[in-house]
Amino acid sequence: MCGIVGYTGPKQAAPILLEGLSKLEYRGYDSAGIAVRDKDKEPVILKAKGRLKMLAEKTNNGEAVPGNCGIGHTRWATHGEPSELNAHPHKSDDLCVVGVHNGIIESYIEIKEKLIRKGYSFQTQTDTETLIKYVDYYYKKYKMGPIDAIAKTMVRIRGSYAVALMFKDYPGEIYVARKESPMIIGVGEDESYIASDVPAILNYTRQVYYIDNMEMARLSGGEVTFYNLNGDVVEKELKEITWDAEAAEKGGYEHFMIKEIHEQPRAIKDTIGSLVNTDTKRINLESIGITEDEVKNINRIHVVACGSAYHAGVVGQYVMEDFARIPVRVELASEFRYRKPILCKGDLVIVVSQSGETADTLAALREAKSQGIKTLAIVNVVGSSIAREADNVFYTLAGPEIAVATTKAYSTQIVAFYLLAAEFGRIRTEITELQYQAYVNEILTIPAKVESILDDKEQMQRLAAILSAQDDIFFLGRGIDYAVCLEGSLKLKEISYIHSEAYAAGELKHGTISLIDKGTPVIAVLTQNSLYEKSVSNIVEVKSRGAYVCGVTYYGSYSLEGTVDQMTYIPKIDDHFAASLSVIPLQLISYYVSLARGLDVDKPRNLAKSVTVE
Ligand code: F6R
Repeated sequence: MCGIVGYTGPKQAAPILLEGLSKLEYRGYDSAGIAVRDKDKEPVILKAKGRLKMLAEKTNNGEAVPGNCGIGHTRWATHGEPSELNAHPHKSDDLCVVGVHNGIIESYIEIKEKLIRKGYSFQTQTDTETLIKYVDYYYKKYKMGPIDAIAKTMVRIRGSYAVALMFKDYPGEIYVARKESPMIIGVGEDESYIASDVPAILNYTRQVYYIDNMEMARLSGGEVTFYNLNGDVVEKELKEITWDAEAAEKGGYEHFMIKEIHEQPRAIKDTIGSLVNTDTKRINLESIGITEDEVKNINRIHVVACGSAYHAGVVGQYVMEDFARIPVRVELASEFRYRKPILCKGDLVIVVSQSGETADTLAALREAKSQGIKTLAIVNVVGSSIAREADNVFYTLAGPEIAVATTKAYSTQIVAFYLLAAEFGRIRTEITELQYQAYVNEILTIPAKVESILDDKEQMQRLAAILSAQDDIFFLGRGIDYAVCLEGSLKLKEISYIHSEAYAAGELKHGTISLIDKGTPVIAVLTQNSLYEKSVSNIVEVKSRGAYVCGVTYYGSYSLEGTVDQMTYIPKIDDHFAASLSVIPLQLISYYVSLARGLDVDKPRNLAKSVTVE
């Protein structure tokens, strides 16, 4: 996970590298470093443990480091503790090769042993140092050029990587290679950039190349040449990024997370608008390339994803099964990929991912494809690996999501499922035309209803103040409410570090109720009319054991006043779409609890935004 940037051109490199890294800190933030070359002098390597600001202070925001060509890295430790020594860039002993790396070199121990036998020694605990020295070894042994030395290394290592290298003999040049870890190359006038993600270079250019798996590139000023593993030149098309740079900034909010929570009405509206014609109020699957015949022939759907994207799939399962009457199985990608899934003709595998780079989800997608099964990706980042490899893509239009805890991407993912469910249901005549129209109309009301919840968030601040002092918090719900509880609980534990569990309310008495004691906080979600009374019984059960209960339900549903300790009301909507509204108070509660505990909301400990290692 880690972020990489690079620059070569007429400008001073270090300030550009530091600014770029600041946009990538969400990918890792335990240490950072840069290597910069001033003309044909040796590269200067500067590193610091901790947040990027430590490196910025050390280098006066990069101003103190001369040179027009450099690479930078912000780290999320995999091999070797977070320390200045293990921070990137790493180098061969004579500075012949200097490099940064994102990903994991799985075969690094055997390579290291081989290199030690050849006389190399190692200073760090990282797999990256092994990679750099392996390139150095081939470069020197066969006196080959950088591209040949990198290619020779690539075919001999196992793992995933995006790597950027500078060679002492090639001033002003950066060499990159990629296998399964994200990397883009931007081009400006007489200059070029590399980055793990778009926001890092948006201030400088919108013209980018996507480097493919097992490809390399040489950057020299504004010239970028791509190569395959045989060293043949590969032609590539320059693409334009249409994102607004503003969208990747905090825009006056204290944190990215609260900004992104507030962007949800817009993100949901855009995602709905990408498939629904707002005049005819009809859903059109043309943009995702799925035909009516294909929909009619689906036998089973497998939804595969990780974390919150998996939780979005759980919501999707309830709605798709109800509307389209197709059996849906939702599975964690890390389980799916290794359990030899039984997939049959007529199955559709839907992978869900914000980043489009999650290693397990990508592997699950590949597993499905290798079995000849049709795949659809619900994905946010355009041009990401998952987007490029899936047969069909439904882009959620959440825009760049920077806070580690997802909010707007999750909200657009569940809306994507509603649209698929309604359209699949219509095509398969499992819902009537009247129901279809009613559902589409309800979906169109979601953005305004989310907005109205956001306008009224003070209550969540008060509740968060109470909850922030707790050690354990439980979430209870049934059906779609349970699916939302899974997400609410993950959100809370992830950014507040409070232990939390989500339970299907009916499951409580099979063990977990023994944990309920005087004052134990329980957040209960009750939006499903057909399950309301059942859930109320469960609430009474925990209440009578002393729980402090906070309920989330619709306006007008006031029967729990007097039974529970706090109620939060959301606008009424068809029950199938309630998750879009009930998740908002849960996101806000997590945000304010994290704030009340004085934590780093956007960059919680031990986490990174994009999980490109398994
Ligand atoms: C939680 C969160 C994670 C991600 C998960 C999958 O707030 O963001 O659980 O949902 O790591 O990431 P993507 O969607 O990028 O595949």
